[in-house]
Amino acid sequence: MTILETVGRTPLLPIFEGNNGARIFAKAEFFNPSGSVKDRAVKGMLVEAIKSGKLTKTKTILDATSGNTGIAYAMFGAALGYKVLLCLPANASKERKRLLNIYRAEIVATNPMESSDGALLKARQLYNDNPGTYYYPDQYSNDENWKAHYNGTAVEIWEQTDRKVTHFVAGMGTSGTFTGTARRLKEFNPSIKTVPMQPESPLHGLEGMKHMASTILPGFYDPTLFDGRIDVSTEEAKKMTRRLAEELGLFVGISSGANVLAAVKLAETLSSDAIIVTILCDSGNRYLSDELWD
Ligand SMILES: Cc1ncc(COP(=O)(O)O)c(C=O)c1O
Repeated sequence: MTILETVGRTPLLPIFEGNNGARIFAKAEFFNPSGSVKDRAVKGMLVEAIKSGKLTKTKTILDATSGNTGIAYAMFGAALGYKVLLCLPANASKERKRLLNIYRAEIVATNPMESSDGALLKARQLYNDNPGTYYYPDQYSNDENWKAHYNGTAVEIWEQTDRKVTHFVAGMGTSGTFTGTARRLKEFNPSIKTVPMQPESPLHGLEGMKHMASTILPGFYDPTLFDGRIDVSTEEAKKMTRRLAEELGLFVGISSGANVLAAVKLAETLSSDAIIVTILCDSGNRYLSDELWD
């Protein structure tokens, strides 16, 4: 068995019940080998690139990432023997940068004021300057990203809920998790509602999440899959993140807290036959230095 084969098949954990009995469950994606949901997309993109010959041992893997994707590239790069170069906003957490160093990935720090868009533009520029040097998966427009969730996450949710899932709620970075999972769940059962979580404002602290109204839209972004939308503020997401650790022993990251909060808000509007599934994207370890834990 290789590390690639340990991606996915994560546990589905019961979280809370709404006042009217709607039940909330979450996929514990921190069980993936590099510790986040992004292992699914990165595995999908790299396996396809190796098979098709786009990624050879002479090329360096290059991409823009706010952190978790980079850690997944770095880990798989180390495991499979590829160099990795990552563009990320300079304000990404210290834990994330340190992890990238541990796997010997190189980092190009971009302007934090330009957030993930600055990193994206830098990666495109580096690639365009020297296309022969790099394999540029471009997680924002690579279909293998959302397909990893279409063929993995969604199928697991369908089976783990005994085909009873009624709602899926998740925030979006590249939107790969939301798009692939929502698309497949609706194919399984068109009455399943799939609801995006959005940061309340453009300048927010939900690391990994994009405020879509004010950023460059991912290539496979698909609003036709949206059944409504739930907005979450950074402060209330942090409060929920602490609550998950204190009440359930789930030490997860801020985007996970935001997802659960969105699921709780949705649960308040639903009755006892509702089964809501959301995503615990990564572990709280990635944010240990955040003032959230002070
Ligand atoms: C912490 C965190 N949560 C959630 C996501 C969103 O996942 P996706 O890119 O599939 O939309 C990311 C993506 O980078 C992330 O880093």
